[in-house]
Amino acid sequence: MTGTTTGVPFVDLPALVQPSKAEYLAAFERVLDTGGFIGGPAVSEFEDAFARYCGAPHGISVRTGTDALVLALRAIGVGPGDEVITAANSFFATAEAISHAGATPVLADVDDATLLIDAGDAARRVTERTRCIIPVHLFGQIADMAAVQALAAAHRLHVLEDSAQAHGATRTGPSGEVWRAGSIAEVAAFSFYPTKNLGALGEGGAVTTRDPQIAEHVKQLRDHGQAGRHDHVDVGYNARLDALQCACLSISLAKLDAGNAKRRMLAEHYRAALAGVSGVRLIAEAPGSSPVHHLMVVRVDAARRDAIRDQLSKAGIATAIHYPRPIHLQRAYAHLGQGPGTCPNAERAANEMISLPMFPDLTIAQVDRVVEALRSAVG
Ligand SMILES: Cc1ncc(COP(=O)(O)O)c(C=O)c1O
Repeated sequence: MTGTTTGVPFVDLPALVQPSKAEYLAAFERVLDTGGFIGGPAVSEFEDAFARYCGAPHGISVRTGTDALVLALRAIGVGPGDEVITAANSFFATAEAISHAGATPVLADVDDATLLIDAGDAARRVTERTRCIIPVHLFGQIADMAAVQALAAAHRLHVLEDSAQAHGATRTGPSGEVWRAGSIAEVAAFSFYPTKNLGALGEGGAVTTRDPQIAEHVKQLRDHGQAGRHDHVDVGYNARLDALQCACLSISLAKLDAGNAKRRMLAEHYRAALAGVSGVRLIAEAPGSSPVHHLMVVRVDAARRDAIRDQLSKAGIATAIHYPRPIHLQRAYAHLGQGPGTCPNAERAANEMISLPMFPDLTIAQVDRVVEALRSAVG
């Protein structure tokens, strides 16, 4: 994942964890000394701190972000026979979780400017079987939740925020209130995959919710459906997050705002430098939106995208694509029958996007190198 010493890596995980190494090791020692590897104070302390950070009354840690989505869907009662609408341009796990809950994913197109779910397109896909909508706060920007909530209210749908890429993101609501990822809808799912804005030293995830019943149900589901010891009221999972990860996540959570501020500063630098470069299109930031820049995505001419990436690579600059094929065109979902042309904005974006290096320890000098290399590649 890291690049050469002279190049610009896409993400630099060793640099990210290095400043916290002594704190992580001390946390390891505390957990080793207590022997409380599953559950215990390290888990509940992290859950409370993370819920507080998101502005949600309840936080439940789970094994992965995918589990967070599956358990949240099951806890709100989504199951076989139901349809769940989500964005065609997301990581595959968003739709996969719908399938694991026993329901059918329905992929909606994204807005061409923000690449966030288009609530108008989602509305056209509502049927009498639709139970839930999952807006994805893609690249660190909160979806148009006012439009999503209005659609949900009109059709009595549940709303689950896929906040895997948006720890700490905010957006102004219709009455001027500041909405924060994880506390806008009734329930939200987060991933702590190591490269995320809040990353574990391995896998991790969490559900946040304002609803005590959903919280209780997720807690049961992550622990084999147990309401009490050997009292299984549901068929659940072993989806608990261990104490070592939670202890380390508490340390990283305290540094999340500082990391997000660095990402914002870097994104602003990128955006200012790229604004005048013809042939490079930026992803729009919605009014009132304060994204946390999980990814720095730009769009270029589809016919030249791969050649541009090759040229960047030759200049030592690592890039990626999020995501090269929209979910409805993945082979695993061929049976859904949503062929090419059904989500045109997502399909066009898939051929035009390039994700540029973005992580808190990236330097302005490195951003300038990326910008210059991109300018010469598109020129
Ligand atoms: C938008 C989105 N949803 C869901 C997931 C799944 O999270 P995890 O990899 O922790 O299972 C991810 C991250 O990989 C993601 O980016």
